[in-house]
Amino acid sequence: MNDIAIRLCGISKSWGAHQVIKSLDLEFERGQLVALLGPSGCGKSTLLRLLAGLETPDSGRVEIDGKDVTAAAPSARGLSMVFQSYALFPHLNVAENICFGMQVRGVHAAERRQRLHDALALTNLLGLEQRKPAQLSGGQRQRVALARAIVAGHSICLMDEPLSNLDAKLRHSVRHEIRALQQRLGMTVVYVTHDQTEAMGMADKIVLMNGGGIVQSGTPSELYETPANAFSGAFIGSPPMMLMAAEKLPAALQAGVVPADDVAAGYLIGVRPEHFHIVAPSSTELFGTVTGVEFQGAESYIYLDLPGGDSIIVRSPEKTGLKLGDRIGLGWHPAHMHVFAAEDGRRLSPPSGPAATAHVRVAQDAAPLAI
Ligand SMILES: Nc1ncnc2c1ncn2[C@@H]1O[C@H](COP(=O)(O)OP(=O)(O)OP(=O)(O)O)[C@@H](O)[C@H]1O
Ligand SMILES: [Mg+2]
Repeated sequence: MNDIAIRLCGISKSWGAHQVIKSLDLEFERGQLVALLGPSGCGKSTLLRLLAGLETPDSGRVEIDGKDVTAAAPSARGLSMVFQSYALFPHLNVAENICFGMQVRGVHAAERRQRLHDALALTNLLGLEQRKPAQLSGGQRQRVALARAIVAGHSICLMDEPLSNLDAKLRHSVRHEIRALQQRLGMTVVYVTHDQTEAMGMADKIVLMNGGGIVQSGTPSELYETPANAFSGAFIGSPPMMLMAAEKLPAALQAGVVPADDVAAGYLIGVRPEHFHIVAPSSTELFGTVTGVEFQGAESYIYLDLPGGDSIIVRSPEKTGLKLGDRIGLGWHPAHMHVFAAEDGRRLSPPSGPAATAHVRVAQDAAPLAI
C-alpha cells in the first residue's frame, strides 16, 4: 500500500448558495509533487486553504499523516505554505522575514544562518537580505515567500501559484529548482497552478479540476495520452487538442473504438496539433486553407481555415515552406485519435484505435468546437 500523507474525504465548501468544492475525495502520496490544475475560479485555492486549515469545510474530513486534523489550527498541521499573495511582514527585512518562523520555533542561530544562506542562494536573493518588502519587485517578494517556506523544513508544503509574478526565464529556472529540492528532500508538495505546462513539467500527478470537482487525476502522460473527456483533452497540451464534430464515425473505425450502444450518437473527434500530418487535399475529406504560419524555432504552427469557416492549428516539427492561401489536406494515425461523445464530452475510445487505416475521413462539414 502506498504511504498517504494527506487524505481528503467528502470535502464540501460553499460560499452562500455557491458550492465551490463539491464532495471531493483525494489522496496525496508522501514524497510526491501533485499539481492542482484548472481554470480560474474552479476552486484550487479554496481546496488548498481547506487543506491548510485557513478555511473549514462544511462537511467531510481532512487527514494528515493518518490523523484527523479537520478542526486543527493551521499551525498544528505541520505544513509550510506559499500563497498567491506573499504575506510578508512589511516592517521586517528579507532575512528577518525568511527566518521569522525558525526564530519562533527556537532553531539554533548557526543552523538558522546556514538555512538562510541556502534558501537565499536557491531563490537568487543573495545581497538583498537588508531590504524591506516595499523595496522589492513583485517577483522578488514572491521569492522571499518561497525561501521562507523552504527554511521551515516541514515535510509537507502547499504552494499556490508560487511563480505567477516571475518573468518567463526565472519561472522556468525556479520551477526546476523547486522540483529538484522537493525530490532531494522527499517533500510532499501540493502545487496549485492554472498553467498546464507547469503542471506537466513538474508534477508526479496532476489533479485536473473544473467547477469544484475533479475532472481527471493521473500522471502527466496519462492525462496527455488518455484524456477522460473532451475538457481534459482540450486543457492539457499547447496548442490545445483540436475537437471536431463528426456526424458519424468512419465505419472502418467504429468496431472496437466505440461501444455498440454509442454508435448512433454524435461524436467529437480530438486530434492534437502535433499529430496531424499534411497530405494531398485529394486524399482526404478534411482539408483547409493556410491563413498563417508561425515559426517558433524548433517547430511551426500552421493556422488553417476549414470549409465551414472554423480554424484549426497544426504543429509541424519543421519549417514547412507553406504560404498563405495554400490548400492542404490533413490526416492522422488512428492511434492518435480521441473520440468523445458530443452530448457530454465523455471519452468513448480506448487509447489507441485500430491501426489499419492511415487517414480518417471526416464529414466534410466537420467543424472544430471550442470548449
Ligand atoms: N471568501 C470568499 N467568499 C465568497 N466567494 C469566494 C471566496 N473565496 C473564493 N470564492 C469563490 O469561490 C470560487 C473559487 O475560488 P478559488 O479562489 O478557489 O479559485 P481558483 O481556482 O484558485 O482560481 P484562480 O486560478 O483565479 O486563483 C470563485 O468563484 C470565487 O469567487
Ligand atoms: Mg487561486
